[in-house]
Amino acid sequence: MIKPESIENLKSIVDIVDVVGNYVQLKKQGSNYTALCPFHSEKTPSFIVSPAKQIYHCFGCGASGDAIKFVMDIEKLSYPEALEKLASMYNFKLEYSKSSSFVRTDVLEKVNSFYIQELYKNKTAYEYLKTRGIKDSTIEKFALGYAPDSKKQFQFFKNANLNIKELKDLGVLSENGEYPRLIERITFPIFSPSGKIIAMGGRTISNHPAKYINFTNTKIFNKSKTFYGLNFSREHILRKKQAIIVEGYMDVIMLHQAGYNTAIATLGTALTQEHLPQLQKLSSKILLSYDSDNAGINAALKASKLLFKNFFEGGVILFPQGLDPADVVKNGDDLNIYFEKAIPFLDFIISYTIQKYDIKNPVQKKAAVDELKEYIFTLPEIIRESFIIKASQFLQINPKLLSVRSSGQSVSSQNKRIEVAEASIIKTLYENPHIMDEIVEYLSTDVFKTHQKELKLVYEEKFDDPELLDIVLREDILCLDMEALKKQIIKLLIPYYQNKILKLKTSNLPTDEKMHKLKILNYKVLQLKKGELVESDSTV
Ligand code: CTP
Ligand code: MN
Repeated sequence: MIKPESIENLKSIVDIVDVVGNYVQLKKQGSNYTALCPFHSEKTPSFIVSPAKQIYHCFGCGASGDAIKFVMDIEKLSYPEALEKLASMYNFKLEYSKSSSFVRTDVLEKVNSFYIQELYKNKTAYEYLKTRGIKDSTIEKFALGYAPDSKKQFQFFKNANLNIKELKDLGVLSENGEYPRLIERITFPIFSPSGKIIAMGGRTISNHPAKYINFTNTKIFNKSKTFYGLNFSREHILRKKQAIIVEGYMDVIMLHQAGYNTAIATLGTALTQEHLPQLQKLSSKILLSYDSDNAGINAALKASKLLFKNFFEGGVILFPQGLDPADVVKNGDDLNIYFEKAIPFLDFIISYTIQKYDIKNPVQKKAAVDELKEYIFTLPEIIRESFIIKASQFLQINPKLLSVRSSGQSVSSQNKRIEVAEASIIKTLYENPHIMDEIVEYLSTDVFKTHQKELKLVYEEKFDDPELLDIVLREDILCLDMEALKKQIIKLLIPYYQNKILKLKTSNLPTDEKMHKLKILNYKVLQLKKGELVESDSTV
């Protein structure tokens, strides 16, 4: 937290005319200044800045506020980020209260400087970057470094007086504090949108089986929300109204080096719902530019589906087989040729879904229709129509065959509810491991729809697994008390057993066996509805 008195001090030195003048051409008029409004397009100025009141106001679109608000809106920054930006404009040192991220990022800053020094001491590491085609100026811009062996690193931590507990909390050291997370790797600092180091990733240069390693989630770093490179791209994205999303560090770096400065990457994870708020703030077109292998295309399909249903415009860029954007840049190709051929999300989703099936075969055609319908069901009403029309053209079928009835509650909000229930159960177990033995009896992992894998991780007590931490650190997920935990589990178990009953009814098991199992399952549902947990049983 930035100290309130520090904010007041900053405000007292900030001058709105200076700040706004950095972004727009101001003209003096009486005691005020006027300009063309940067928040809407206009030909005659209706935007004024008042030095006396220290505010701006637009008579055209109504935008108004003080210097901080101006920076927030024009740079699309949060309040603290805008303060940091202003502070750096004025070379002002903000003060943070104790639990602040300042102390923390300061430590990361020191570790990173050490890694940078090591890069220049290690010929192999530096040469490696050169063979990847990275220029010195790019190494410097992205603050790339090299993490040496463990011994050297501990030596440095000791000499620099860095606190072991803090290094653990920041992710520099492993959970038990015994070894640095990045060893003998090229290091990539990961920056917050305002340019502070919040974590790091590293690439092996000695063929370690884990090619890349990222810090796990920490108090200041959430891998599923962060975009690598956004600190460098944000302003270009806002200006060009275009963001290129790529898969990895090297892609971002190589694209920037070649002048494609709107590139950002997710951090070894798929694009998720959690990433979207950041993208929405940028209100720009999205170009997905993933590796052109099967994994990349599948990831692009998933991301397109997510973006399309959340009203993003844009499309998917396909490179020649096997290449990623970094390769294409290194080959010296002009990427604009590919960008111009981006396939709009709508077309991409439909054609790549259908492509998995042989639609000359009626059975497979039906399967393709079913898969599309499943997605159509999750679409907001307002874009369903256009999707259905396009898909029916692709498949040459009557659009009616693709229409889905709306139920009272949409699948997506129902799915969301289930997702949250699962996550809160996981968080509760994580926080109360002593109840695990009991819960395991009732709740088998296949009950979960979204977080099966993470439930398994808790059961196996893999408490520092990053995917598990992704859930545990979420602030929208609450820890439950025993009563609420039981209720949530019952809520998930009822449809689970009901579904089993349905499947059993249509199965072709011998009648005796079927009846026996049905009896058990019906009894279970009955007990659950009474509010009693029932033991899971793999024989039914
Ligand atoms: N990644 C990871 N762990 C791995 C492989 C990849 O976390 N074992 C993440 C990294 O963030 C990486 C991204 O996924 O940047 C994309 O993976 P890949 O295409 O394999 O990485 P490149 O950047 O192409 O790797 P290279 O250095 O070999 O070019
Ligand atoms: Mn790649």
